[in-house]
Amino acid sequence: MKKFVSLVLALTMVLSLAACGSKAGGDLNTVEAGKLHMSTNAAFPPYEMMTDDGGFEGIDVEVAEAIAKKLGLELVVDDMGFDAALTAVQTGQSDIAMAGITVTEDRLEVMDFSDSYATGIQVIIVKKDSPAVQSIDDLDSAALIGTQKATTGYIYCSDTPENGGYGEDHVIAFDTGALAVMALVNGQVDCVVIDNEPAKAFVAENPGLEILDTEFAVEDYAIGFAKGNDTLKDAVNSAMAELKADGTFQRIVDKYITAE
Ligand code: ARG
Repeated sequence: MKKFVSLVLALTMVLSLAACGSKAGGDLNTVEAGKLHMSTNAAFPPYEMMTDDGGFEGIDVEVAEAIAKKLGLELVVDDMGFDAALTAVQTGQSDIAMAGITVTEDRLEVMDFSDSYATGIQVIIVKKDSPAVQSIDDLDSAALIGTQKATTGYIYCSDTPENGGYGEDHVIAFDTGALAVMALVNGQVDCVVIDNEPAKAFVAENPGLEILDTEFAVEDYAIGFAKGNDTLKDAVNSAMAELKADGTFQRIVDKYITAE
């Protein structure tokens, strides 16, 4: 009888192992077996932010969780600086980078991207009735612009005037968008150029600020991969397509962004 029980046990184990292997995650070579490591910068509401108890939430976090589940993997969020989050995926320290990342020509040289899942708009935050900056045209003058380090806001603004920027001398890069906004509140910069959704969140938290009507740039957000990691990229694109088709993706977005 004992023998029979252990045979049944052994059989069950073999069967359940086989079941694991048949999930997509079994075929995917990830940084850590069974896990999907996502590098991000969790200071970018509503896409990624920290919860009061030290966890993570936001559109990117929940979408990545749903993708990981479809792939039979467990999501692990690795929080770091925005530039580090991009480097981590390029150097194989994370499997995906998801951080409201804009697809740009320069980034495409060093990493691959999924299909785009959202639109981002670079906007300008000013103090209400800001004397220095009242419209996008005022950025040309002596204005000092606050941005988050390594973001497209910084890259565009610090570019040369011939390329549509204002020159490095006119731009300060902060570690997070929140710090750039704090500098605006304290009068250290005249405006902040940042993505529209975090801009809305920061303005809501800081009375006396407003977003100018003009759009500075319209961009596509996508998930980043190491160059040539097509197996994972294809798996993520299919998972994302399913999440869009069955309404999960939109449900997550609606939880964090209320339509105006
Ligand atoms: N969309 C901008 C970029 O790709 C800013 C993204 C910043 N994201 C973040 N999680 N801090 O450069």
